[in-house]
Amino acid sequence: MNVASALQSIREVVGPRGLVDDSDAATYLTDQRRLYNGEAALIVRPATTDEVARVLRVCNEAGLGVVPQGGNTGYCGGATPDDDSNQVLVCLDRLNRVRAIDKVGMTMTVEAGMVLARAQQEAEAHDLLFPLSMGSEGSCQVGGVLSTNAGGLAVLRYGTARDLVLGLEVVLPDGRVVDGLTGLRKDNTGYDLKSLFVGAEGTLGIITAAVLKLFPRPRSQQTAWIAMDSADSVCRLLSRARRTSGDSVTSFEYITRGSLELVVEQIDDASDPLDQRYEHYVLIELSSPQDEEGSRAMIEALLMEGMERGDIVDGTIAESGQQRDKLWRLRESVPEAERHRGQVIKHDISVTIDRIPEFLAAAPDRLAAIAPCLLSIYGHIGDGNLHYNLLPNDPAKPFANNTASALADAIHALAVELGGSFSAEHGVGKLKKDALARFKDPAALDTMRLIKNALDPRGLMNPGKLL
Ligand code: MLT
Ligand code: ZN
Repeated sequence: MNVASALQSIREVVGPRGLVDDSDAATYLTDQRRLYNGEAALIVRPATTDEVARVLRVCNEAGLGVVPQGGNTGYCGGATPDDDSNQVLVCLDRLNRVRAIDKVGMTMTVEAGMVLARAQQEAEAHDLLFPLSMGSEGSCQVGGVLSTNAGGLAVLRYGTARDLVLGLEVVLPDGRVVDGLTGLRKDNTGYDLKSLFVGAEGTLGIITAAVLKLFPRPRSQQTAWIAMDSADSVCRLLSRARRTSGDSVTSFEYITRGSLELVVEQIDDASDPLDQRYEHYVLIELSSPQDEEGSRAMIEALLMEGMERGDIVDGTIAESGQQRDKLWRLRESVPEAERHRGQVIKHDISVTIDRIPEFLAAAPDRLAAIAPCLLSIYGHIGDGNLHYNLLPNDPAKPFANNTASALADAIHALAVELGGSFSAEHGVGKLKKDALARFKDPAALDTMRLIKNALDPRGLMNPGKLL
């Protein structure tokens, strides 16, 4: 099949409502960080799994590359086509229905294009919780968060996207549909195929629907902003908090002085919640099946004990939903504050929690050997995942490209040296392909290539990403 007739067949499959005009194309062709700009042969918005399958079948026959796209909120360029106009961009936003809710089994079957915040609301309407939560939840889509195995703000208690999915429906590169939409919690019948597609960044097929795990909704939440003098204290507090609260800690987010200052400087209405300056802060949230009184007693006891042990030096507990939102806004605004200031080299490394103090102690010297930097360090320390971000001291004098890559390399190498990951949360996409090739265990990388070749022998699924 030649390309022109393939594109015509695809137009017919999706119909006029499934086509994106040239005048609307720009938002689909640039990633949200504006690192990459692509061109597509066609941008389509299929409305059903069957349409996705037919589009992929045609692409396979004609040898056309396929780039799947969800909410286009990724950080690594994983959903942007390359710039030679020979790939078909497949947007999933019209596949956005709830297919089923099982209140007893606590599962929900939804289509891949459903916006994450809506998935949370659908669960809430049945007095259940879908706990995956992150800054981009108003735009990112279920298929995208699964394809990148997104984590977010409650991984400590509920796990990453991979831990929250029981079954998947996936369209393979040749257009066949794998119907794995099961709500079974136990099924030992061979390879765990769904795990293969979660985190594959659309390189093995397109996720079109998922069975998600739901949870009982907690009866009360307590949120506190805590100041500490050292990273060791932060790690000790995490361990105590989990042990003494019956594992009710749902979030344990780290913010350093540098990141808080950026937020206070760059974000309207943001202010330091404490009177004195400290170097290390934690935003801790307990979500409890107990009533308000019980959970309040729990967090107060935790803070009191932390103060007596000398780990906590100051802090405040949110007294209302409004105060809780204000504290969360400080943490969630860090990326926005960095963006407002100008250039930022973002990292999302992980190490095991016990090695976080070692990482934090070693990193500044490694960087100083390359270039002076302003540090914005924050993140999901409860998961061992830090955003160790680097900004030029003077925003008007950005790092040159080779300096920026040397700095990024130093941070990645340090994480890997300490047994960690150079990319714990944001994935690989185009941005970190070289790092994957450099740092991934060679046998593991070979295995990934073998899987890719077996499922997508013509290399048509999301070409140029990940591998
Ligand atoms: C976050 O933790 O805020 C997100 O991963 C976003 C970011 O780092 O920019
Ligand atoms: Zn993050």
